[in-house]
Amino acid sequence: MNVVLKNISKSYGGCTALADCSVSFPAGTFNAVIGPNGSGKSTLLRIAALLERPDSGEVVYTDGGGVLRVDLSLRRRIAVVLPGDSLFNDSVFNNVAYALRIRGVERRVVSERVHDILGRLRLSDKAHAGARSLSSGEAQRVAVARALVAEPRCLFLDEPTVSLDPVNTEIIETVLREIGRGRGMTIVMITHNMFQAQRLAERVIFMYGGRIIEEAECERIFTAPEKELTSRFLTGRMVW
Ligand SMILES: Nc1ncnc2c1ncn2[C@@H]1O[C@H](COP(=O)(O)OP(=O)(O)OP(=O)(O)O)[C@@H](O)[C@H]1O
Ligand SMILES: [Mg+2]
Repeated sequence: MNVVLKNISKSYGGCTALADCSVSFPAGTFNAVIGPNGSGKSTLLRIAALLERPDSGEVVYTDGGGVLRVDLSLRRRIAVVLPGDSLFNDSVFNNVAYALRIRGVERRVVSERVHDILGRLRLSDKAHAGARSLSSGEAQRVAVARALVAEPRCLFLDEPTVSLDPVNTEIIETVLREIGRGRGMTIVMITHNMFQAQRLAERVIFMYGGRIIEEAECERIFTAPEKELTSRFLTGRMVW
């Protein structure tokens, strides 16, 4: 599915979080959203994922057949990993199985799919552990498993590996790369880790002050950014 944001604006009280943002995330692409703290990345992601409404502008999902109606069937093809998402006070298995059970997936298939995704995230031995007993890296891997288990068409991730060690980060990155690339999933990931953006993304969107400043192919934005602001951000010269 393609996700297209047209002229999105959003304010909270007197604070403008997004000002006339237009951007598209083409079907099957891996997009990284970068930019300083407070630049509107999380707000943009929540609006794109249909979790929040913009004050003005529109979010349009399309596929080969045209514009998709925003209904439960569309929402069920979108998965989101947000910072501070908490797991249910239940086993790891049940946390991950939930997304399939609410979709009425047959018990045997639930078990297969949950074990498969837990295996990919190196969590097989934790399937029956209580989710609340996990380390932060393990809990974050469960959050990713929970988002992926129902095979969404669009996946939105807000800093999914923040404060994780390199091992946990690599496990998550590997799964995102395999699952995303292999199955045509549209992925939008916010990150402050520029190396991670370079490792994973095909397209990079740079935001500043609630605006989309630059949107480019990954290699180009890191080697030859078009805008002075992008260049300053990437070389650590934002304060002048
Ligand atoms: N629910 C909210 N209520 C009030 N203000 C908000 C809300 N969400 C975001 N804002 C404000 O909107 C602006 C953009 O915030 P946002 O969280 O989108 O930035 P961000 O780019 O994700 O930053 P960070 O890198 O720190 O996560 C900030 O000034 C923030 O204070
Ligand atoms: Mg944020």
